[in-house]
Amino acid sequence: MNNARILGNTNIEVYSIGLGAMPLSLDGRPDQTQAYTVIDAFIQGGGNLIDTANVYCIHETEIGHNEILIEKTLTTLNQKNNVMVATKGGIKRHKNDWIPNGNPDFLRQSCQQSLKALKTDSIFLYQLHAPDPYVPLTDSVGELLNLKNEGKIQHIGLSNVTAEHIELALSITQIMSVQNRCNLFEKKSFTNGTVEFCHKNEITFIAHSPVGGHFEHKQRTDSPLLKIISKKYDASPYQIMIAWLLNQKQSILPIPGASKKSSISDSMRAIDITLSQEDMQLLNFI
Ligand SMILES: NC(=O)c1ccc[n+]([C@@H]2O[C@H](COP(=O)([O-])OP(=O)(O)OC[C@H]3O[C@@H](n4cnc5c(N)ncnc54)[C@H](OP(=O)(O)O)[C@@H]3O)[C@@H](O)[C@H]2O)c1
Repeated sequence: MNNARILGNTNIEVYSIGLGAMPLSLDGRPDQTQAYTVIDAFIQGGGNLIDTANVYCIHETEIGHNEILIEKTLTTLNQKNNVMVATKGGIKRHKNDWIPNGNPDFLRQSCQQSLKALKTDSIFLYQLHAPDPYVPLTDSVGELLNLKNEGKIQHIGLSNVTAEHIELALSITQIMSVQNRCNLFEKKSFTNGTVEFCHKNEITFIAHSPVGGHFEHKQRTDSPLLKIISKKYDASPYQIMIAWLLNQKQSILPIPGASKKSSISDSMRAIDITLSQEDMQLLNFI
């Protein structure tokens, strides 16, 4: 069943492709009208989980840009109750640097800001954006558990982690999702056992940068083998990259980014592609 995913060990079902909203707020971002059409197309196509973060913005002075944009669009579309928003905290923006900050006070303050930006009393999924090498992971995750117990967040996720990090976090609380960079050309989460660990522990593995990444997607989708396989399925190379992830495991949820309506509409059609075992093998060795 390629068109739906169950989140973590809950019975919450989502469309098997989420929208990565980051390109709607970084450098080169579209205007508000275009951003609206991207989110609208995603929902019209059946999508119901949007990934964001407080730090998706151009300048450190506009923290919350992406969350505010999503909230406004969902309100205009009257879809706030139908779409799950997954946001993140634990990164500090300073000029061009994205610096992990897993200090409990900082996480709490970031969560408060996200609640305000998203105009909600409770965030559906709150993800630790990255472990902070200077703060014990159990302190950061412990604060997320406090926020959950207070009802400010409903589910806890981790991002940019290894199986060891997840195991440590699981020793203090339930984890719904893990979000790592993962695509046909960057298979580290497969080779180091993170994807398998998530699968075994009923944790949804959210594949970020699933078509190669914000800066690299054009170069990645230019691969000759990918082009040959795309032709065979009458699909775009982007769709094949997403289908490859979907065909791996039921616990994988790709979240392709888009700043154009045509991009997200194309990506969402990847659910209709069932790659043959032979083609999966070929792609596995890319
Ligand atoms: N947790 C983390 O640390 C982390 C890090 C990076 C990203 N993320 C999350 O993961 C999401 C996805 O990653 P990403 O946006 O960096 O990279 P990506 O999804 O690999 O690539 C996004 C870019 O690919 C293009 N694209 C996607 N599908 C396409 C299609 N079917 N046809 C043509 N072009 C297509 C889009 O171009 P256009 O802009 O022209 O539409 C988009 O800007 C982000 O939006 C964010 O939510 C998380």
